[in-house]
Amino acid sequence: LDIDGRLLPVIRIPGYDQVAEVRSMPQWKARDDDILICAYPKSGTHWIWEIVMMLLQGKAERVNAIKETAMLEGTSQKSFDSLPSPRVLNTHILYQDLPKDFREKHCKMIYLLRNVKDVAVSFFHHHCKLIDYTYSGKWENYLKRFIDGKVDYGAWTDHVLQWEKVAGDNNVNILLVAYEDMHKNPEVQVKRIAEYLGKAASQELIKDIVDLCSFKKMKKEKDPLEDLNEWKDKQPGMYRKGIVGDWKTMFTVAQNEKFDAYLAEKMSPSKWCTQYDLVGT
Ligand code: A3P
Repeated sequence: LDIDGRLLPVIRIPGYDQVAEVRSMPQWKARDDDILICAYPKSGTHWIWEIVMMLLQGKAERVNAIKETAMLEGTSQKSFDSLPSPRVLNTHILYQDLPKDFREKHCKMIYLLRNVKDVAVSFFHHHCKLIDYTYSGKWENYLKRFIDGKVDYGAWTDHVLQWEKVAGDNNVNILLVAYEDMHKNPEVQVKRIAEYLGKAASQELIKDIVDLCSFKKMKKEKDPLEDLNEWKDKQPGMYRKGIVGDWKTMFTVAQNEKFDAYLAEKMSPSKWCTQYDLVGT
């Protein structure tokens, strides 16, 4: 699906015309208490969605739903309107493509960042495992596509640069959360998120949420909720490794040098890149 030259995936959801839904999205109505989690794919959206759902409930209890039910570009306007408040929505689209009302109502947004090399590797496996992509290319070819932005949602560099620009606007209400910081000290990050959302959270609650949202527990308890027909070999692939630095198992030295040169050029205006370990080693 091409919107003004930008690529979005066509998620084949029975029962509605997704192309028409996405095109109508700018007119969708936001609610004052909506929370929107935004990220380039594979940056940890499932993880943070689960945490935010628990913070809003005020208890460390697993929600019996998957984040895709609240994903803007993966739902219909009717389903979107019928979600109970407060809605924890999520999306991979650009700020400029969001429903206008989110901007007008200054809804709270959380933007997730992750080291681009781990994102590329994670996205490669995602493409290989999901049936809808009908993709079975090799890593070296995929990396080229990734650099050229010929993957869902376009180039990571454009996505991050655009969101960084938006986040610098005082009228926009965005909290940044880095995947690597979540790994280093999840309790500190969950506390930051709770404070941003204005949710009281005791140290004990934070600890319990962190524990229930550990990779191991989420994989065990959320994988069974996935529709196995969407995955090759009927093996769900959303919770793959959940680690920092997996890119080192895929990038050759030459690929890494080339990728570093590309990033140095593209991301030179980015302060986020120096502030967070987004392109580092
Ligand atoms: P990997 O493929 O590197 O394992 P998204 O949710 O945005 O699609 O991102 C998916 C990535 O986040 C996958 O990365 C997945 O394993 C990882 N992930 C999901 N839940 C996680 C958790 N609880 N802790 C750490 N990583 C998690």
